[in-house]
Amino acid sequence: MNFKTLQFLAILLIGITLSSNAQNPVWDIVAPGVWKATVGTPEKYDLLKAAGVQPNVDAITKLGKAEFPIPIKEIVAEISDGKTLLRFPLVKEEQLYGFGLNFKTVQQRGKILQLHVDHYGGSDNGRTHSPTPFYVSDLGYGVFVNSARYITVYAGTAVRKDSPNAPEPLDRNTNKKWDAQPYSDAVEMLVPAAGVEIYVFAGPTALDAVRRFNLFNGGGCLPPRWGLGFTQRVRSLFKDSEVIAEAKAFAEKGYPLDFIGLEPGWQSKSYPCTFEWDKTRFPDPAGFVKTMREMGIRLNLWTNPFVSPASQLYQKLDKLVGSHTVWGGIVPDLTMPEARKAVLDQLDKNQISLGVSGYKIDECDGYDRWLWPDVAKFPSGNSAEQLRQTYGLLLQKMTTDLYREKNTRTFGLVRASNAGGSSFPYVIYNDYYSHEDFITALINSSFSGVLWTPEVRGSKTGEEWIRRMQTVCFSPMAMINAWSDGTKPWSFPEVEKEVKELALLRMRLMPYFYSEFAKYHFEGTPPFRGMNLENGFNAKAVTELKNANLSENPYAEAVTKEIKNQYMAGEYLLVAPLFKGQSEREIILPKGNWYDFYTGKLAGNGEVIKIKCGLDKIPVFVKEGGIIPMMPPLLHAPATGEKYDLEIRFYGNQSGKYQLYDDDGETFDYERGLFSWREVSVAPDKKGKLAGSISKAEKGKPDNIGKVSWKMMTE
Ligand code: GAL
Repeated sequence: MNFKTLQFLAILLIGITLSSNAQNPVWDIVAPGVWKATVGTPEKYDLLKAAGVQPNVDAITKLGKAEFPIPIKEIVAEISDGKTLLRFPLVKEEQLYGFGLNFKTVQQRGKILQLHVDHYGGSDNGRTHSPTPFYVSDLGYGVFVNSARYITVYAGTAVRKDSPNAPEPLDRNTNKKWDAQPYSDAVEMLVPAAGVEIYVFAGPTALDAVRRFNLFNGGGCLPPRWGLGFTQRVRSLFKDSEVIAEAKAFAEKGYPLDFIGLEPGWQSKSYPCTFEWDKTRFPDPAGFVKTMREMGIRLNLWTNPFVSPASQLYQKLDKLVGSHTVWGGIVPDLTMPEARKAVLDQLDKNQISLGVSGYKIDECDGYDRWLWPDVAKFPSGNSAEQLRQTYGLLLQKMTTDLYREKNTRTFGLVRASNAGGSSFPYVIYNDYYSHEDFITALINSSFSGVLWTPEVRGSKTGEEWIRRMQTVCFSPMAMINAWSDGTKPWSFPEVEKEVKELALLRMRLMPYFYSEFAKYHFEGTPPFRGMNLENGFNAKAVTELKNANLSENPYAEAVTKEIKNQYMAGEYLLVAPLFKGQSEREIILPKGNWYDFYTGKLAGNGEVIKIKCGLDKIPVFVKEGGIIPMMPPLLHAPATGEKYDLEIRFYGNQSGKYQLYDDDGETFDYERGLFSWREVSVAPDKKGKLAGSISKAEKGKPDNIGKVSWKMMTE
């Protein structure tokens, strides 16, 4: 027996004695390719209970059967010290994405995180707006821990004494190979509760694992069509006439506008809030909402959840609130149905029944001292920690349910979310303002089942303004948040023309983006995605091509370097933003032909390209066979039943197919089958000339498409 074998046996023995309590969890199939295990005694309240959504098992089933994707014996769980210890295996070179809405990094292997709902504080340490306890591996599987606790994650950092893969200790004095972070073969997690439910999602690709996760959470949200138009949030203390004047200015200048956001000043008091209109600024709320609707503009109202003593709600909530106040406001225990009802009655009576279309739910994330402390007590018996991890989810769910009862879709903003929230029609935003990091967050949102907007507020120069506007127009919500700066799209005359064209391009792309959101809902595919979810951008591809150098193998770059500055928008578009001070950049084009969105010219194939780009454009590329349905540059989203013409663009010279989605755009009738998928295809005709066709809408199903014209973009 040599030394290595002896060492292994000794380790095994120690391992067995030390971990007598450790077990391999028992896995049950909950849907094809989705497994659940129960460890210890899970708590009564968790993330999925807070979200209260039903998995879309039919859609998961369509993704096909799958084998359990990880070596099952290497998943270990143990209850110790009243906590749950979890271990999942990792192989060398495997990459991990997810663990919530991070802003600086995409790859999470090597991180130690404490998943904690908070306002993002400048470092990826687990404290963020949606600290989703879900990760996806580039090997094509996902893991989810269903706990509303502050989970500590060691994502491939810890080395167990009994690990068969433990690296040999090296002498730093003499060995150049000494590594400050020795190889770790596991993701280990500590859940501060004596039990938890865990889930595994199969691939085969990382994107499939994400799809299963999103579908398990009910499928992604489908915003109303108007939600994908342009939105402006006006100055905090604007009164009704100023809001109307702003909406008129948009119309007169020819800028699109679908909804306006009112900031704290619409309420009679804020921080804490009354949830009541301010009578001096908005003397006739019903009349005001009506006037706006007649101009084609909907309203979204800011609020935070803390209730002012001056609110009618205050007395009603009496025994239904936490032990601590925030800014002097009481904190409703929203895990209690009575508390939810009291708040919803107030929103309904004062706002929703007047025609208000949605909310921006602020401050439900922290910053620590702007929230209840962890020592707070809540009447439901749920802990301050559990409330903190789920408060954003609860607010999204209750408002979504109310809009669903009224059969009217909403699309709003929220500052906190978590796993289970994919189906809620809310987009996360924050007070941070790094353009680069906003794009990293947009990428990371796709690994965590949430949406994120890189909102635009102000800028030092016109150049910065247009660059920020470009990315926000290629994001889930095209928004200027002028609550403090009072900026308008035309605030920088030097780029006014470009901004207008861009905002109109966003409108033109509405049929495409709407279809892509429908795919988020029905198929679980995130509409805005990190490159790591695309074929070719994974470790496997690198192994296949391992002898190639970087210029021959762009994929190597995707593994050795994080790709944080380009992303996919829908099925076919690759967006490569430029930031302040840049006039050229590199773009990694995956394998296959990619075409310039604006000209249709071939841009490259499986290579790193360098492009120069003026202020008038954001670089966008289209995958071979890309079909992009576009509508005329309308100033408002088409209303229910309003027909719109399509210009269908085709890129490449082979053939392509696209599923175009259509419904009434405003109600939940799609949940009852009232929608249509139209198959668009382009292929060479008998003479070899490209020709397009579009299938008819089924009888009795929505059909809003008017005239169709075709534009073959590639010569
Ligand atoms: C912040 C929020 C801003 C704005 C402001 C109004 O908390 O992030 O977007 O709404 O409140 O006071």
